[in-house]
Amino acid sequence: MSRIGAWFVGARGSVATTAQVGAAAMAAGLVPSTGMVTELPLLAEAPLPGVDEIVFGGHDVATVTLAKRAEQLAAEGVIPHGLPRILAAQLEAADGRILPGAEDGEPQAAAIGRLTRDLRRFRDEHGLDEVVVVNLASVEPVCEPQPAHASLDALRAALAVGEHVLPTSSLYAFAAVEAGCAYVNFTPSTGIQLPALLELAEERGTVWAGRDGKTGETLVKTVLAPMFAMRNLRVRSWAGTNLLGGGDGAALADPQRREAKLEAKDACLPSLLGYRPQMPLHIDHVEDMGEWKTAWDHVSFEGFLGVGMTMQFTWQGCDSALAAPLVLDLVRLAGAAQQSGQHGPLDALGFYFKEPAGSDEHQLDRQFVALLRWADTLDPR
Ligand SMILES: NC(=O)c1ccc[n+]([C@@H]2O[C@H](COP(=O)([O-])OP(=O)(O)OC[C@H]3O[C@@H](n4cnc5c(N)ncnc54)[C@H](O)[C@@H]3O)[C@@H](O)[C@H]2O)c1
Repeated sequence: MSRIGAWFVGARGSVATTAQVGAAAMAAGLVPSTGMVTELPLLAEAPLPGVDEIVFGGHDVATVTLAKRAEQLAAEGVIPHGLPRILAAQLEAADGRILPGAEDGEPQAAAIGRLTRDLRRFRDEHGLDEVVVVNLASVEPVCEPQPAHASLDALRAALAVGEHVLPTSSLYAFAAVEAGCAYVNFTPSTGIQLPALLELAEERGTVWAGRDGKTGETLVKTVLAPMFAMRNLRVRSWAGTNLLGGGDGAALADPQRREAKLEAKDACLPSLLGYRPQMPLHIDHVEDMGEWKTAWDHVSFEGFLGVGMTMQFTWQGCDSALAAPLVLDLVRLAGAAQQSGQHGPLDALGFYFKEPAGSDEHQLDRQFVALLRWADTLDPR
């Protein structure tokens, strides 16, 4: 049996912790796989690594232990009470595989070298066939383009003279490509999506996917917007208000980071409708909501003879519980793609993202069909 590694950037965050606890609980037969798309009967024949075959590791700048984070999430009701205690041994072992992340002061060339070595050591020590690096770290501010981003030569030259030219998420992406890992960006941060890094990825035949997991409000939008389009109902405005707590909410309280998230959330509607309605979108941090999120959407639309109507929905989700099973799916799928010798952006994984790399398709049902068809092309292990 092949062994697969999942390396989480932001390994002590809510989503990463929930994914690690969930995988351990599933492997022990304690919880069902609800929420994992790869566990659907439609994908039963796909040659994917088992969840119990995944070895977890990662980087983080936080030092709180995984067990402590799991207890905090249990206290919030994200993880069943008692589970962190039952899985204490697994969580302690996983915690030992979480290494210090890249901090702002570290020279970038040195940081890339260190992160690359960490990844290679992880693969060698655990005899892993494939390693999938998943970015689950806090959202970073929108990245301003720089000349060094334009080509690999320019980037290498800038790094060689000690210039600080990459956003932190791209240091990890660089290391992932250098170490021969698959790369998945579950956040709106830049990651691999700079011309210089895409050039490197192309050179190395890297498998990659992203970006920004589609787990809540945008997921609903990509189901409902096609309905308006198919019935030729004209959407005049689609206003969204998002209230969230947790670490993600705290990060998004910063206007520059919020801008990155809003950009990702903005992508689907004009593409699905074929025009751009008025679409004000707000994100507010409400500490009291903890790991829960509320999205309220108000859609104003026009029917026959110009008659105006509205539709509203309220989504109340536990973000980490929605995201964690998708992260496990992505590890299995990207790992299998790498094992099948695929390379480049995995457009069939667009199903999982707000800004699907390699595809303009946002409609969820079509994305699902594309995913199923693609899964048929994976080589049996
Ligand atoms: N939960 C969802 O439904 C969902 C959906 C789409 C995207 N996301 C994205 O997933 C990411 C994780 O969300 P979360 O709720 O777990 O957030 P979180 O705040 O709980 O976790 C983020 C983790 O990243 C770590 N981190 C920060 N800077 C780092 C660095 N330089 N290197 C390594 N680690 C670093 C933090 O210490 C923290 O442990 C966020 O970017 C979020 O926007 C989440």
